[in-house]
Amino acid sequence: MRKIETVLSPALFHLYEDGIENKIVVVIDILRATTTMCVAFENGAESIVACATPEEASNFRNKGYLAAAERHGETVEGFELGNSPQEYTREKIAGRKIAFTTTNGTRALQMSSAAKQILVGSFLNISALAKQISKSDSDVVLFCAGWKDKFNLEDTLFAGALAEKLSGGLEITGDASQAALDLYRLACGDLQGYLQKASHVQRFKSLHTESDLDICLQMDATKKIPYYSNGLINLLRYESAH
Ligand code: MLT
Repeated sequence: MRKIETVLSPALFHLYEDGIENKIVVVIDILRATTTMCVAFENGAESIVACATPEEASNFRNKGYLAAAERHGETVEGFELGNSPQEYTREKIAGRKIAFTTTNGTRALQMSSAAKQILVGSFLNISALAKQISKSDSDVVLFCAGWKDKFNLEDTLFAGALAEKLSGGLEITGDASQAALDLYRLACGDLQGYLQKASHVQRFKSLHTESDLDICLQMDATKKIPYYSNGLINLLRYESAH
């Protein structure tokens, strides 16, 4: 039976790298990078380059890209876009290429480079993602981007939610997957209420960006599945199958 494993922090990723070239990795940064990527593609972005640094993202401007940079939850000074899904409107980003760097999310994508396939997960595309994964024949690693190598609640909740959707056809393996599933079952009646405890939600409050939380918890707002390959995030072209 195919297996699901869960990585609760980038600091633990090296423990799951064995055989990664045969596995699907789902990168999860619910607040907010992977959510924002889903919103960007839903609103017509052409592609996203995942950059390691703001400087690298800035250099893409010469090639006509929009440059987006977030550090410590805030837009980096001098950038036209940060990491709030509310900024990625159709008016601003339809048909555009975006060079994007964030504190944790783009780093987790880059760390996953050796995987067979790297998918971008959020509550917005959770059912489409589950269908897509169900159709494949590979084991799955749910990779929580966390916060600066620390565990976080929101990515773990999403890992549990996706594990639950996949649990009919895949085996939940390891205590991390089981803990994610249990946490999701505990909190699923009121995800928003539960996440008031999350440190990044507290950070949102101090940065006055708490309205992003509503967007980041929207279930199935899109069927689009972004994937990462060779530094680029593009859209999987399998929508008609859903
Ligand atoms: C990240 O990638 O570090 C996060 O998405 C942080 C944020 O909320 O902007």
